[in-house]
Amino acid sequence: MGWNWLSIGASLLTLVSGVKSSPPLVERTWNGTEYGCKCYLGDECWPSDSSWAGLNSTVDGNLVVTIPPGASCHSTFEGPLGTLSTYDAAACADTTAMFADESWTVERPAAALWTYFTNDTCRPTGNPSESCTLGYYGLYVIVAKTKDHIKAGVDFARENNLRLIIRNTGHDFIGRSTGWGALVINTHSFQDIEFIAEFSGPGDYHSQAVTIGAGVQGRALLRQAHEQDPPIIVLTGECPTVGVAGGLIQGGGHGPLTPTYGMVADTALSFDVVTAAGEFLTANADENPDLFWALKGGGPSAFAVVLSVTMKTFPEQASHGVVIEINSTHTSDPEVFWEGVRVFHKHANSIVDAGLYAYFELSEMRLHVKPIVGFMKEPTEVASALQPLFDEFKSKGIPHSTYENQYPSLFDLYSDLFEDEGAGTSALTGGWMFSHQDVEENNDGIIEAFRTVMSPRDDMQSQGFIIGHLWDAGHSMPVSNSATNPRFRSSTNFAIVALPVPIGATLAQKEDLQNVLTNIQDAAMRKAGPNGCAYVNEGDPYQPDWQYNFWGSEYPKLLELRKKWDPNGVFYAVSTPGTEDWEVIEYGTRLCRKT
Ligand SMILES: Cc1cc2nc3c(=O)[nH]c(=O)nc-3n(C[C@H](O)[C@H](O)[C@H](O)COP(=O)(O)OP(=O)(O)OC[C@H]3O[C@@H](n4cnc5c(N)ncnc54)[C@H](O)[C@@H]3O)c2cc1C
Ligand SMILES: *[C@@H]1O[C@H](CO)[C@@H](O)[C@H](O)[C@H]1NC(C)=O
Ligand SMILES: *[C@@H]1O[C@H](CO)[C@@H](O)[C@H](O)[C@H]1NC(C)=O
Ligand SMILES: *[C@@H]1O[C@H](CO)[C@@H](O)[C@H](O)[C@H]1NC(C)=O
Ligand SMILES: *[C@@H]1O[C@H](CO)[C@@H](O)[C@H](O)[C@H]1NC(C)=O
Repeated sequence: MGWNWLSIGASLLTLVSGVKSSPPLVERTWNGTEYGCKCYLGDECWPSDSSWAGLNSTVDGNLVVTIPPGASCHSTFEGPLGTLSTYDAAACADTTAMFADESWTVERPAAALWTYFTNDTCRPTGNPSESCTLGYYGLYVIVAKTKDHIKAGVDFARENNLRLIIRNTGHDFIGRSTGWGALVINTHSFQDIEFIAEFSGPGDYHSQAVTIGAGVQGRALLRQAHEQDPPIIVLTGECPTVGVAGGLIQGGGHGPLTPTYGMVADTALSFDVVTAAGEFLTANADENPDLFWALKGGGPSAFAVVLSVTMKTFPEQASHGVVIEINSTHTSDPEVFWEGVRVFHKHANSIVDAGLYAYFELSEMRLHVKPIVGFMKEPTEVASALQPLFDEFKSKGIPHSTYENQYPSLFDLYSDLFEDEGAGTSALTGGWMFSHQDVEENNDGIIEAFRTVMSPRDDMQSQGFIIGHLWDAGHSMPVSNSATNPRFRSSTNFAIVALPVPIGATLAQKEDLQNVLTNIQDAAMRKAGPNGCAYVNEGDPYQPDWQYNFWGSEYPKLLELRKKWDPNGVFYAVSTPGTEDWEVIEYGTRLCRKT
């Protein structure tokens, strides 16, 4: 019944826009509900071998079949397109050694750093007879080398109603760069970096800038910026290997310069993109300004594929770094430890009020604040901002260690004090931002919430962990210039919640852990921070009211823009604007729209 209407709708759209649009969705009923789904291998609509070969020649032979990175440790890979013999002792040793390495994982065409959303069905192993299947990886990957390859992938997915995934570095915490049975476009080859002495507009900014390709990662960009004469800096995430133009800027982006210059998205000047309709467009203050705004924090893989972005750059400055640790080498008493955490967090407001940034990790008996960053700050300025904290540590008898150093540039500080993070871990991610007011009025409640995150249930002691980020995007930029949640302008601590999931967990165990994350851990965080919000790149996509929590008052406008720029859902990333009717059904596999 719905089928005819959908197909009439689709052909009308073809007539109106002149763009070949999707064929009808595939009807399915699951668990008593009717859906129209994307087209998957085995469906009648699935492209023939010769269509795939045609796509491969359009992309100059850069179409590959996904083989999970762990396959070399298994005798066979039982893929959807057939079984392959995959065991290779040398490759397996390499994979085993490198599986936790971020940079290695980024280089695999479809791999995800956080493996939970790949379904973990082919990890490195010492037992080659263990099975290796595709799990939730995409089926084919276009390792795009030119913008025409990206357009070819978007067109092919749209015209054949395929699930489309854009994969840049694979850093996504919530599985948005992988998808069962999908066609993946990998943007990692887009590594161009071009510095501009004076941006000539449009808009009212006429100073230094940089244009970066979709695949450029944080540290490479910072290094090249540092090599300019005089050295300059650019807003990136704290993580050296995270992409800049992909998920980071489209989700908003925060980093060590956020106190000084706002969210990463606030610094964008112009985007070159491929739209859902397969058009090459520029989006900036003059051309397609609505799309420009939406791309600045409105959600990744939602409005267009970004080919490149031009961003503001700023002069390098001397910077001061501080490290603070409290862990089991300092005390074995959990109450002393938690009192230390309480005192540290109580002073978070004075840290952000001084324009400082801090990254910290918190787990049971380990507070690792590394680093606190004072960009453009003298050691004395940083010392006076931290004095009340150290005074209270002293008066309360909180044992701790501290270390500090002055650096000639932020890049020197960044290289010395920011640490590479691991890959290959299976975990669920949530998170919540605590505002200045929340910390002022309810610091003790926030600490209780942290303890709930660590030990959410009697049978789950010391299992969760937190990654905190002290910054105040409103400190020097009280007005947002982007689609990011206005509440970030009064933030003090944006804290990620992580809950490990054991490899081999059953569907029932996974459902239970997701429930713990959403309804125990994150629920405690939300309750303790009523003036906070959530961050779409580092948050629980299954939280209630994600629209409001991620974008606040900006959501209705983003929803309209999604309908305008991607009316048929060519793009999909969970909990991005306009995805309310879409659902991944049949245990994490088919992407479908409720009909
Ligand atoms: C170790 C680690 C540290 C992090 N640190 C920070 C931090 O300091 N600050 C911060 O804000 N975030 C941080 N993040 C989160 C980060 O913002 C997200 O993981 C982000 O989605 C990564 O984007 P990516 O393009 O590198 O990754 P991917 O996983 O490849 O892509 C992420 C999302 O962006 C989409 N996407 C990628 N490229 C494009 C494109 N060209 N056009 C359209 N859509 C695209 C993908 O489809 C997917 O939905 C961190 C993550 C990790 C794992
Ligand atoms: C099926 O639907 C019921 C009722 O809506 C719901 O409670 C249940 O969780 C659903 N099952 C699955 C596997 O989603
Ligand atoms: C695409 O073409 C290249 C070059 O001819 C070939 O090596 C590759 O296997 C092809 N990919 C697929 C999926 O067939
Ligand atoms: C995903 O993992 C679950 C176990 O948690 C398993 O039951 C299911 O078959 C897997 N699905 C795929 C497509 O790998
Ligand atoms: C605990 O703190 C000390 C510094 O005093 C540090 O050397 C050590 O690595 C920390 N331990 C952990 C587990 O982080």
